[in-house]
Amino acid sequence: MPIAVIAADITTLAADAIVNAANEALLGGGGVDGAIHRAAGPALLAACRALPEVAPGVRCPTGEARITPGFALPARWVIHTVGPVWHGGGRDEAALLADCHRNALRLARGHGLRRIAFPAISCGVYGYPAPLAAGVALGTLREVLERDPAFDIVLCCYSEPMRAVFQAALTSA
Ligand code: APR
Repeated sequence: MPIAVIAADITTLAADAIVNAANEALLGGGGVDGAIHRAAGPALLAACRALPEVAPGVRCPTGEARITPGFALPARWVIHTVGPVWHGGGRDEAALLADCHRNALRLARGHGLRRIAFPAISCGVYGYPAPLAAGVALGTLREVLERDPAFDIVLCCYSEPMRAVFQAALTSA
């Protein structure tokens, strides 16, 4: 199965696309979003700002995805997606997190991109319990890969403990 779990700074990866765990405004933030904007340079913010708002202040509703160039990043593209905020599990968080992964790969497929790196979407500021998020992420990525095995997917965690959580989900399912 072409899924690898690593611990690294996603902004250093020369993938076809890296996925950003953004917010609905798509105008940057902290965490991996801030790191990606810093590494890509100000052209990324301008490209995000140019994406149409679908509601006031919303360029990408939760669960959806948008694509921009990677500018100064080693990755050619950035696929921005917005994970759910964790509210305890009763607000469709799992379905929305699955949508993030599915929609990111749908965009990748449409652009002919194969090597895609994902961060641990929603596992930081948005508070999704990592073991649960890892199960959803890897379950969804597996489903997509069964239909489209040409993808080469990297799950890029930022710390060794997070890598261990995602690795356990990869090996257990
Ligand atoms: N490379 C890889 N992973 C990273 C990096 C990096 N450079 N920096 C942070 N991370 C990890 C975090 O350690 C966490 O495990 O990414 C995971 C996701 O955390 P967040 O970036 O906080 O993303 P999320 O929980 O989805 O919250 C999104 O945070 O910064 C804001 O604009 C963003 O409002 C949005 C919210």
